[in-house]
Amino acid sequence: MAAAVQKPSPAYPLGSRLGDDGRLEIGGCDALDLAREFGTPALIVAVDDIRARVRAFTAAFAARTDDFEVHFASKAFACTAVMRLMAEEGLACDVAGGGELHMALKAGFDPGRIHLHGNAKSRRELEEAHAAGVGHVVLDNVRDIERLEQIVAPGERQPVQMRIAPGVSPDTHPSISTGGPNTKFGFNLDAAAPAIERVMASDRLDLEGLHIHIGSQIVDLAPFRPAIAALADLGDFRMFNLGGGLGVAYTEFDHPPSIEDYVAFKVDAVEQIAGPGKRILDEPGRALVANSTVTLYTVESVKRNVMTYVAVDGGMSDNLRPMLYGARYEAQVVGRPGGGTRCHLVGKHCESGDVLIHDADLADPRAGDVIVTPATGAYGFSMANTYNGQPRAPVVFVSGGDARVVVRRETYEDLTVRDV
Ligand code: LLP
Repeated sequence: MAAAVQKPSPAYPLGSRLGDDGRLEIGGCDALDLAREFGTPALIVAVDDIRARVRAFTAAFAARTDDFEVHFASKAFACTAVMRLMAEEGLACDVAGGGELHMALKAGFDPGRIHLHGNAKSRRELEEAHAAGVGHVVLDNVRDIERLEQIVAPGERQPVQMRIAPGVSPDTHPSISTGGPNTKFGFNLDAAAPAIERVMASDRLDLEGLHIHIGSQIVDLAPFRPAIAALADLGDFRMFNLGGGLGVAYTEFDHPPSIEDYVAFKVDAVEQIAGPGKRILDEPGRALVANSTVTLYTVESVKRNVMTYVAVDGGMSDNLRPMLYGARYEAQVVGRPGGGTRCHLVGKHCESGDVLIHDADLADPRAGDVIVTPATGAYGFSMANTYNGQPRAPVVFVSGGDARVVVRRETYEDLTVRDV
């Protein structure tokens, strides 16, 4: 008789299945088979999960306004195949610099739907963006204004937005809070008025709207209201770019707002504070990709010290978030779900801080087991590194029982390929 199927925790990709026999399926593929076929560590991306979340975002906006644009904050999963998927799904794209601009163009985004961000844009990045014909450059500082005015030829104009620091700090980790009164991002409220005046007077720059991005992994939406009010106080602009920020469930204990609630909150706030008829842009990153992906690892050793240490073949090279932001993940032994053994799930890197999960609860973990950590789609791949000469993990797309590698595993040769 076939094993009964349960739904795993909401941190897993939509459509994941957990059999009573412990069999875990992501995108219709058996997780142990994926580990055998592609090796570990590996990032397994459920494509249908991403598509569903993109569609939920667009549908939520379309239900409230017809003047909107959803931009994928490509830094969240800066992988050409993921960016291509977003382009296919009809999203626009936010890039953080020249490298992401290059990838976004390669992924097939219409240049006019790419927007360049950055608090320290180089002259070259501004030139490349303008030459590519990007939709907007998001001005962050006075030097951006000066440089772009020099780059744009007489008679031409570059559409721009201006990033404003609205003096609002959401409840999130300080490293990912970006809209407070003392931030490195954007024009603060004192600097904004003269800068806006200057850009409005420019014969090379077209100021089409204002931008905020107050932070990331936000679960209490309330701070978006004062942030939007701060923008509305700066003038009667037609376009509001509200950045990203929606938090996600990293574990079964997290209950972030739904995509629908987040979109409704933002759209309603703009309408109530700034009036109807505004064009609204949003730049989700994490909420589109975090839960689409799981990481598969293999246990290399189990050590019983004061605490039990379960050491896997990856760690801070593929997921820096626990170390940088104290981010909490969940894990299970593939094929043996549940708990019973309190342990630290640690990586293979040469420092004690390389702990993926403090106080994990795993079912009798043993060397050779495959471990899965869900919700690793956002910022893991983008911040991956080769610490200790660890080749970076591959990215595997799964859907309907098919699996295909979209980024191959890095090789030892890759580690020396830039040597001259
Ligand atoms: N727009 C701008 C201008 C941003 O800087 C960001 C993220 C986003 C949109 C997307 O925000 P999201 O929807 O993903 O919250 N490495 C950190 C996150 C840094 C976020 C940087 N900016 C982490 O792993 O938590």
